[in-house]
Amino acid sequence: MKHTDLRDVFRDTALVGQTLTVCGWVRTARESKNVAFLALNDGTTLNHLQIVVDKNSDVVLPAEATKLGASLKVTGKVVINENNGTPEINAEEITVLGVCPADYPLQKKFQKLETLREMPHIRVRTNTFNAVFRVRSVMAATIHRYFQERGYVYVHTPLITGSDCEGAGEMFKVTTIGYSRDYKSEEEYYADDFFGKKAGLSVSGQLEGEVAAMAMGKIYTFGPSFRAEKSNTVRHVAEFWHVEPEIAFAELPDLIEIAEDMIKYIIKEYMEKCPDELKFFEERFEKGLTEKLRNVVENDFAIVDYTDAIELLKKADVEFEYPVEWGCDLQSEHERYITEKIYKKPVFLINYPKEIKSFYMKQNPDGKTVAATDLLVPGVGEIIGGSEREADYDKLLAAMRARGMNEADYSDYIALRRYGTVPHSGFGLGFERIIMYCTGMANIRDVIFYPRTVGNIR
Ligand code: 4AD
Repeated sequence: MKHTDLRDVFRDTALVGQTLTVCGWVRTARESKNVAFLALNDGTTLNHLQIVVDKNSDVVLPAEATKLGASLKVTGKVVINENNGTPEINAEEITVLGVCPADYPLQKKFQKLETLREMPHIRVRTNTFNAVFRVRSVMAATIHRYFQERGYVYVHTPLITGSDCEGAGEMFKVTTIGYSRDYKSEEEYYADDFFGKKAGLSVSGQLEGEVAAMAMGKIYTFGPSFRAEKSNTVRHVAEFWHVEPEIAFAELPDLIEIAEDMIKYIIKEYMEKCPDELKFFEERFEKGLTEKLRNVVENDFAIVDYTDAIELLKKADVEFEYPVEWGCDLQSEHERYITEKIYKKPVFLINYPKEIKSFYMKQNPDGKTVAATDLLVPGVGEIIGGSEREADYDKLLAAMRARGMNEADYSDYIALRRYGTVPHSGFGLGFERIIMYCTGMANIRDVIFYPRTVGNIR
């Protein structure tokens, strides 16, 4: 259908005075005796285009065209509204493409985000979700550009896997046979299943990413990861999008430099490419958002040793729900205190106790900690988790054995340490988490199209 996108009508001043055809959905409709005003939106911009219908002219205004949610095709001349200086169209012909009955849920101007969550197929038509998903799209392209411009190879790691990267039993099972009492053991059951062994949805592309980095030097993956953890929080979903670079010949300080540079690049591009959306989020969701992001781009992130962070938390004049001791896994309340109250900016926490981190992390000479880092940001908490990898064959095996892992499931991974092992590092950025940080949306369910959480799928 030949028509002009509304974003072009708002951007291209050369269109003023021309007769165009536009399409869209009716957002609001007002009528008086002589004139009708329809606000049309086609999803290509946050702005609604005003369609002016002179009721004393020959133009036919079908009754269905004034119903919220109806889809229209309108031909008319672009003029500039004298009061607000923005383009509008004086309608010459109006065609109703699709009618919309009165039970259309977006009749009220503002609906609560919780209410909208119940109707993912409708909420995308609001300005809020239009802005969120446009930012998501721009940011995804930005992330690809960042790595592509720097020579990283984009690798598609498998989603179905036979090995668990992060451990802790958070994997969804992949099976084609249901539970049956006919099998005498778990082994027998899995042997009969599709892959002939236990399989699951990958929690991370890292293990295969490391294989690729040991051949191509610098690689990244960007795809979904799955976590069956039952944490019903505003920061967890069972299916999230994961950005995972893996870099050969990089040690922990190199990795931190790359992560900081990438985050700043993403934010800078967002501020440049999505000014309307940023303004919208600033007005509706987070006062001071623009200033916050500008500060992130212009200032260095903090780098804090886990051991020092524990001391700071112990001295803190606050009653934490979870007590703090060296060796404890930091809870969200601790992470937020560090980044929001002490440093007031993004913080790389480094050198965690080895017991609370994954088997693949490089063991530090102190014998107690690993060369890991989490990036914590005010408001959201952890957005990146990464580490230098254990490149030493014996140390890696020892760490796996200490955790009672099945070495046969990781044979490819272990082999990397035998055939020309090198220092290497990588991290995982939670794509939804950085979108939350950049938009001020407080619940992860509102930055992903169809959120999957415990007890919720549609
Ligand atoms: O810290 P995580 O578990 O690290 C890994 O998976 C490593 N294998 C990554 C690597 O080194 N290549 O997860 C990395 C990031 C977290 O910081 C968080 O932002 C995000 O992934 N994440 C989640 N996001 C939403 N919902 C969940 N359930 C998430 N779990 C992790």
